[in-house]
Amino acid sequence: MVTIEEHKDLKPLTTFGVKANARYFCSVTSLSELTALIHHPVYLNNSRFILGGGSNVLFTSDYHGLVILNALKGIAVSHETDDHIELEVMAGENWNSLVMYCVQQGWGGIENLSLIPGTVGAAPIQNIGAYGVEVKEVIKSVTGIDLQTGLPRTWLNHECAFQYRDSIFKRTLKENFFISSVTLTLTKKSHRINTSYGAINDVLKQQHITSPTIQQVSDAVVQIRRSKLPDPAVIGNAGSFFKNPIITPEQYEQLQRSFPGIPGYHSVNQEVKVPAGWLIEQCGWKGKRIGDVGVHAQQALVLVNYANGSGAEIFSLASQIISSVKEKFNIELTCEVNIK
Ligand code: EPU
Repeated sequence: MVTIEEHKDLKPLTTFGVKANARYFCSVTSLSELTALIHHPVYLNNSRFILGGGSNVLFTSDYHGLVILNALKGIAVSHETDDHIELEVMAGENWNSLVMYCVQQGWGGIENLSLIPGTVGAAPIQNIGAYGVEVKEVIKSVTGIDLQTGLPRTWLNHECAFQYRDSIFKRTLKENFFISSVTLTLTKKSHRINTSYGAINDVLKQQHITSPTIQQVSDAVVQIRRSKLPDPAVIGNAGSFFKNPIITPEQYEQLQRSFPGIPGYHSVNQEVKVPAGWLIEQCGWKGKRIGDVGVHAQQALVLVNYANGSGAEIFSLASQIISSVKEKFNIELTCEVNIK
């Protein structure tokens, strides 16, 4: 049995909080519901979009197809040794609640990813990352249903093509694979504490903490995020709107000649990641407000909806930012947020 709603208001289901309706909507709470859904005429005759926590999507207009909410819940221990624990977590679980639960249990590996909005199922799609850690470092596998065949399939970590804010689920499998669960391997002891990201060390130093626990790292991350990033429950936003662009060392050197202060982080293959927030700030956008939408005053990478901004207005603002950055730095910013 599957229930399909019509003309569903999506505003409360996305963190941007913009007005948009879905022509059809279905919340999937079990795999049998999903199986029933993929044989349903509404599913077969419409385009579809899978929604998790709605924290990385911008609807620029009504959605004329079927929105499927991934609401699968549950956490199970799939394997355990003295050193490690393997958790199979259903895709509809809230990511931050999972982090808080694991930190409380003393299971390490995801404490740097505290307070990231969204669901567990969305985490591998864009390989969420923050403060020196990416989720690919703890993912053992991703399981779900191939929507072409209706058959289950598990993708092992090395098959997921994880990259910076990217994976196979965002590319060849986009809209064709319904993630049902993610299996994570976490440490029970000898945690790999990662405080390499400057701001974490600064916070810990202020608190005179020299060898932090995973709880203390998590607390520091929460403190940093709260000071820089707007709370979606208060001001609509989807975190970083753009990806940090990756450029060649030659391009970076050339830019350094014109802009000596330009920050850049060298990666293993010599390419340079430039903070998009810096580029946007240099173009004068930081803190700018146009009507009810704007650029966050503490972090220029985040676009915000103050109250009644529309998806089209946010998209228009993003397009203007892309043009300014292109004109000033000859760098093409790309959106991290999924535009619908
Ligand atoms: N910066 C500015 N002005 C700004 C913002 C940033 O000059 O308005 C420069 C500064 O040089 C700063 C540097 O950018 O030192 C890095 O800033 P920050 O530490 O805030 O990180 P980010 O590169 O802007 C990325 C992620 C965030 C993640 C942080 C911390 C992306 C697209 N964003 O931002 O992820 O929290 O690092 O690890 O990679 C998200 O994906 O939604 C998100 C918030």
